Amino acid sequence: MRLQGKTVIVTGAARGVGRACALAFSREGADLALLDVCGDIPGVPYPLGTASQLDHTARLCREQGAAVLTAAADVRDLPALRAVVDRVCDRFGTVDVLVNNAGVAAPSGKPAHEFTEDEWQVMLDINLSGAWRMTSVVGPLMVARRTGSVINVASTAGLVGYRHFAGYAASKHGLIGLTKATALDYAPLKVRVNALCPGSIRDDSRVEGRMLSEIARSLGLPVAEHEETFLQSQPMNSLIEPEDVARAAVWLASDESARVTGSVLTVDGGFTIR
Ligand SMILES: NC(=O)c1ccc[n+]([C@@H]2O[C@H](COP(=O)([O-])OP(=O)(O)OC[C@H]3O[C@@H](n4cnc5c(N)ncnc54)[C@H](O)[C@@H]3O)[C@@H](O)[C@H]2O)c1
Repeated sequence: MRLQGKTVIVTGAARGVGRACALAFSREGADLALLDVCGDIPGVPYPLGTASQLDHTARLCREQGAAVLTAAADVRDLPALRAVVDRVCDRFGTVDVLVNNAGVAAPSGKPAHEFTEDEWQVMLDINLSGAWRMTSVVGPLMVARRTGSVINVASTAGLVGYRHFAGYAASKHGLIGLTKATALDYAPLKVRVNALCPGSIRDDSRVEGRMLSEIARSLGLPVAEHEETFLQSQPMNSLIEPEDVARAAVWLASDESARVTGSVLTVDGGFTIR
């Protein structure tokens, strides 16, 4: 029970990595605030998480003994995020851990110059500015108490380029920059900020993940062919499981990583070694 008595906010918690993180945090004794947009976003060309998926995540966490609050909110909407964090503080007292996980993989699938400005903006607004917005609301609570852990779910696309994914790669490189700068801002105040960089994660039906298939679709490839390409490029010859990312998030959230800040932790089967 490494997170007993801690309150954790997870964004993008309806499915995928967010659900896997919520489940792992609940197993470690945390109280949870689970946030998701719970609806589609104009300009994002695939279905996002739903309210019933978020409820399902919450139900699974409660079955493991966690106290859970859910909220439908868009990480692009600062007033809505403030209202959610107010609710979290009313219910749980404060926030100890923030997992900025909400993200989209598309619009993608073409050279950088072919993106419209709207396509560029929506990607940056969610993947990069969304994490900044959440940090701007939650950070002051952590700073005031001189404790806290912010975990930004970036990607190997924050470390290397991916052909035809300029907006996604730019947003994730930016998220790593945000992580390092905020870690410096907060280090004297004992609040830690770290980035997680997963490689290609298997779409696991248990958490209803679908990003890998969306990336394949963006590239016009069958999912099996896309998976095979990634298997060959990951030295461990294995796709990443959502639980691999969740376990790393638990460690970064816990006191076991008490003096780890500004780090960029890859969970990528060795993809970025070479
Ligand atoms: N799946 C992968 O291969 C992979 C690899 C590296 C990094 N990541 C990162 O992991 C994170 C989670 O991805 P996933 O694979 O679980 O994807 P997913 O699409 O299965 O889940 C993402 C969740 O974020 C939510 N979301 C999207 N935009 C939002 C917004 N504006 N406000 C609130 N919630 C929003 C969605 O509704 C969805 O429930 C993302 O940041 C992604 O970039 C994924």
